[in-house]
Amino acid sequence: MTRTEIRFLLNDRIVTRAEIAAHDMVLDYLRLDQRLRGTKEGCAEGDCGACTVLVGRLAPEGLVYEPVNACIRPLATLDGCHVVTIEHLRGHDGALHPVQRAMVEHHASQCGFCTPGFVMALYALWMQTPHPTEPQIERALQGNLCRCTGYAPIIRAALAMGDHGTSDPLLEERAKVTAKLHALRDGARVDVSKGDSRAILPASADDLAEVLAEHPQARIVAGATDVGLWVTKFLRDLPLAVMIAHLDELRVISERDDALQIGAMVSYTQAHGPLARAFPHMASYWDRIAGWQVRAMGTLGGNIANGSPIGDTPPPLIALGARLVLRRKDERRVLPLEDFFMDYGKQDLRAGEFVESILLPKPAPNTRHAAYKLSKRRDEDISAVAAGFAVTIEDNIITAARLAFGGMAATPKRAAQAEAALTGQPFTEASFRHAMAALPEDFTPLSDMRASAAYRMRAAQNLLLRFWLEAEGQPASLEDVA
Ligand SMILES: Cc1cc2nc3c(=O)[nH]c(=O)nc-3n(C[C@H](O)[C@H](O)[C@H](O)COP(=O)(O)OP(=O)(O)OC[C@H]3O[C@@H](n4cnc5c(N)ncnc54)[C@H](O)[C@@H]3O)c2cc1C
Ligand code: FES
Ligand code: FES
Repeated sequence: MTRTEIRFLLNDRIVTRAEIAAHDMVLDYLRLDQRLRGTKEGCAEGDCGACTVLVGRLAPEGLVYEPVNACIRPLATLDGCHVVTIEHLRGHDGALHPVQRAMVEHHASQCGFCTPGFVMALYALWMQTPHPTEPQIERALQGNLCRCTGYAPIIRAALAMGDHGTSDPLLEERAKVTAKLHALRDGARVDVSKGDSRAILPASADDLAEVLAEHPQARIVAGATDVGLWVTKFLRDLPLAVMIAHLDELRVISERDDALQIGAMVSYTQAHGPLARAFPHMASYWDRIAGWQVRAMGTLGGNIANGSPIGDTPPPLIALGARLVLRRKDERRVLPLEDFFMDYGKQDLRAGEFVESILLPKPAPNTRHAAYKLSKRRDEDISAVAAGFAVTIEDNIITAARLAFGGMAATPKRAAQAEAALTGQPFTEASFRHAMAALPEDFTPLSDMRASAAYRMRAAQNLLLRFWLEAEGQPASLEDVA
């Protein structure tokens, strides 16, 4: 069965739409078509949060609302979802929402351009926890930029929002909304187009395999946090896209005896809890990836498949010994993650094949782990250098070392010479200094706007020393690593 229109809930109305190009974005639809202009356009690249809306989807655990950047969210992916815009926050009597009241009382807005985006991100937080802590607020607002008010009043407003109320019409109508979304589900493949651009939403993972076998040239679109920018920044069209954000089968995280299996469509947000439980060193690293909106949209499969040398997930996943499950039709092959990256922009992905899941082996005994990201800003920035280390120590001898870096070569890559310098050596500072000295044999980094080649090399070497110092329980000070 194929449906040729998408259907979704926009605030309190069911909307259907047939004529859609794969590159049509939600923000243009809201502002130009629906004239819902409370949602603003700042950067059009997912960076500023001015366009934040909530998207509710039916997950196995129930209705989940997440903040997303409407500017880079393809309209076709809304099929079966509930889109909530700032206009929907007013109460039945027209009163301000508790989040809005707190923003007013704490003078948290000046020019007001960023304000709807802040309110929507805080609304998502308020739904989860009406009385958040300051660290929770800071994490929730990593993807929102305010140029004139300053963040202190916004944080004060966020701390107070629960005092203005803990329920609203949307929460009260949750059961009704859930029923409406269930009614929209018909298990059909969706196929929509406009002009010469077409978007297919497969009915299932098996259907995805079929669609790709039939159209191997099609562009897979998962969270669209890369692909969306090709459209808004590089003005590229998408002639044929296969959207997979709705495929729950690819969003599953399952624990096997020997490994954690993470579906390709698992978002950064979804992965955070299970990853942090299995590998505690990943928790703070994960918080450094993008902001909440991008973490809710972007996927592990997309971060790997795009092959970027500065993607944040490959270095720590390679260090953990991740393997990739690739599927074409009913055939699957499994390969070590590091072997997937062949050269700049070239991945071992065959025509009609897709990333199905990532396998993360349970940590080996006696192994110390670390993951580091170095970027110019702490939040919402791309890495200059990223690193993941796994070092196994038995009787004070290093028996195995996996050292993976991003930002140091044309692909995420293991440091073979530095690993060899460590393996079989005592677990001492001297061994790590030998590994530091070996690192230039592994990498010839580039200079670009993020960092010079010399900085990258020095920083990567110093991360090895930092690992040693932290393992020894010493804080890594600037003096230590100069
Ligand atoms: C504001 C902003 C901040 C960002 N910050 C960071 C950051 O801190 N760290 C970082 O690493 N990245 C960052 N990114 C980049 C981006 O979030 C990631 O690269 C993201 O993980 C891509 O995943 P996606 O699901 O959005 O992929 P998409 O954009 O949907 O797709 C990316 C590529 O992967 C392919 N693809 C997707 N899924 C599959 C699959 N299952 N099988 C085969 N091919 C597939 C697509 O065809 C496309 O070529 C940021 C992006 C933005 C917009
Ligand atoms: S307009 Fe800046 S994130 Fe969308
Ligand atoms: S209030 Fe002006 S940008 Fe935030």
